Amino acid sequence: MALLGKLGEMLSSVFGKGGEGSVLGIDIGASSAKIVQLRASRGSAILETYGEIALGPYGGQPVGKAVKLTPEKTAEALADLMKEANITARSGSMSIPFSSSLISVLEFPKVDKDALKRMVPIEARKYIPMPISEVTLDWFVIPEEEGEKSAFDRVQPAPARPKGQEVLLVAIHNETLNAYKTITESSGIRAEFYEIEIFSVIRSSLSHGIAPVLVVDLGAATTKMYVVERGIVRLTHLVTAGGQQMTETLARSLNWEFEKAERVKRERGLNDSSAYSTDENDRIKTAMLSTLSRLFSEVNRVLLSYGQRYNKNVSHVVLAGGGAELPGLASYAKEALSAEIAIADPFARTEAPAFLGDVLREIGPGFSVSVGLVLRELRAQ
Ligand SMILES: Nc1ncnc2c1ncn2[C@@H]1O[C@H](COP(=O)(O)OP(=O)(O)OP(=O)(O)O)[C@@H](O)[C@H]1O
Ligand SMILES: [Mg+2]
Repeated sequence: MALLGKLGEMLSSVFGKGGEGSVLGIDIGASSAKIVQLRASRGSAILETYGEIALGPYGGQPVGKAVKLTPEKTAEALADLMKEANITARSGSMSIPFSSSLISVLEFPKVDKDALKRMVPIEARKYIPMPISEVTLDWFVIPEEEGEKSAFDRVQPAPARPKGQEVLLVAIHNETLNAYKTITESSGIRAEFYEIEIFSVIRSSLSHGIAPVLVVDLGAATTKMYVVERGIVRLTHLVTAGGQQMTETLARSLNWEFEKAERVKRERGLNDSSAYSTDENDRIKTAMLSTLSRLFSEVNRVLLSYGQRYNKNVSHVVLAGGGAELPGLASYAKEALSAEIAIADPFARTEAPAFLGDVLREIGPGFSVSVGLVLRELRAQ
């Protein structure tokens, strides 16, 4: 089974042939499930419908909380979401959390394809802390860089080392895959493929380019960071903090229920509001920044360490995930991060009625994974 998005192709046109039929992209996150339905028409991806449902209430928790549901409960939530969003398609794809996968870049000597095919599973054992029979593996060779053309090489020659080849290896526990299969099957969805969310978010939120870019997916319980260069994932990093912690800190410091803190966070974000006194405004902002500033110093650390390790400057950061919808985030990020900032706008790659433009831009970051899944499907048609 192909777990990887064909990242090489990401640099080519998103919509190759067009085709018939509507397809679904389903992203079951820790705190909410997102779905989009699109159809290809004359080289465009037409947005037919979309929706999101909070998963907290299906596990007895408030909206915005990360929950671990059984496949059956998740299927129940998905059925409700499909009904609410007027979903008509029955074929689609689903994302697999980065946290349930193992991704590594492996180095091999320069051998031919057949030899590599034999070597990868053997080498993979060193990286995968469980029997190989319990995981599904996928991998591909990272295309070689044209060394001579790199500006850095001219300034500072790369250290001499035997020229080998690099392989991007991905492993997913079979049990995880089976849980996702149960969810799609009991929801009456024919799954065309399952894809680790990294590859989906990259497809929908990065434009063509070869320079290294850092994608930051601000989720509920976790924040995911991926450095992508020439369309290929070079580094991944998971931080176990996200939007939920921001809400919890806010609730604690203002003595509010989680529900209220979640609502206030989404409505006013980092911007002052006339509904609160100066003192309250300050406390709200300080509470939210306590989580955010820690996350952002981690982002800066990744920028710095990638830059030092590969002698390259990661000049752009794309913020995705529901957390990137925080009002006022872009201007704070511009101050706090040592790179150019963009907020993910996955719906920009789809066609939708003009009156939806503002809404889709606002909620877009949270749909980065689901839109990315569909873009791969439409391209394959
Ligand atoms: N308008 C908003 N402003 C601020 N935060 C928001 C907004 N909308 C959603 N969030 C926050 O985004 C987080 C959820 O983001 P997202 O839906 O991307 O996470 P998830 O996919 O459920 O989780 P994960 O990626 O960790 O599995 C929550 O913490 C939620 O409070
Ligand atoms: Mg997510």
